[in-house]
Amino acid sequence: MRKAVFPVAGYGTRMLPATKSIPKELLPIFDRPAIHYTVEEALKSGFDWIIFITAKGKEPIINYFDRETELENILRTKGEKELAELIRSISEMGEVLSVRQGIPKGLGHAVLKAKEIVGSEPFSVLLPDDFIISEKPVLSQMMEVFLKTGKAVVALEQVKRDRVSAYGIVKGKKIKEKTYKIDSLVEKPPIREAPSNLAVIGRYILTPEIFPVLEKTPPGRDKEIQLTDALNYLAKEGNLLGYRFEGKRFDIGSPEGFIRANIALAGKRGIEI
Ligand code: G1P
Repeated sequence: MRKAVFPVAGYGTRMLPATKSIPKELLPIFDRPAIHYTVEEALKSGFDWIIFITAKGKEPIINYFDRETELENILRTKGEKELAELIRSISEMGEVLSVRQGIPKGLGHAVLKAKEIVGSEPFSVLLPDDFIISEKPVLSQMMEVFLKTGKAVVALEQVKRDRVSAYGIVKGKKIKEKTYKIDSLVEKPPIREAPSNLAVIGRYILTPEIFPVLEKTPPGRDKEIQLTDALNYLAKEGNLLGYRFEGKRFDIGSPEGFIRANIALAGKRGIEI
């Protein structure tokens, strides 16, 4: 299991105008682009094929992971050896591949775009809007469950009742301290229709069985092909687990979450704000 899929085709509308000409994934959290940390999380969990599902205007994300020998040489000439090494190491973080989404038809459609590259192996999906600070990478926490059961696993977090309409919400039974068997899921339900306040957070370990399901999944919420709807199919078959991860999550797709993540990370680096 080496392949990690990063859907990065979204417009970043909640961060406009900051994201008018810069991909939201490249806005910095402390001293590096947000996407750097998400890729690092995948690598630390053993996923070193980095597959970006992109769109027009998102090329700078791919460029970030390219080798920049000219810049490295300039830094070395200036005596900035450490910085030159850091720049080089970014280009060696993993095997970077990209696929264009073409039309923005939803998260399910974006994941389906990875089908050919993923092939027949289990894989992970990371949504860079969910920025997570944790001792152990969330994907590694989830891998333990996957390796024991062989079933697809989604990350779960309890959210405030008034926030359920912003997430995929699950109905499930706790089968272990942090593990849930999911019976069904619904994408962004109104509060009164939400089966719980357990929300899916943007970390998934999936098996290739999801692809034929996604191919058959009709447009759902917001007329988009929803990953949640395909997962609901797996849940109904008894093949989906949820894991309440340890860690602090920030929604960096919103200005509030973005600034909070910056403050939290700065705190970890010993800077008082
Ligand atoms: C996506 C998923 C949703 C999930 C959320 C987690 O929504 O569709 O099920 O709960 O990510 O962040 P988005 O926030 O991309 O609209």
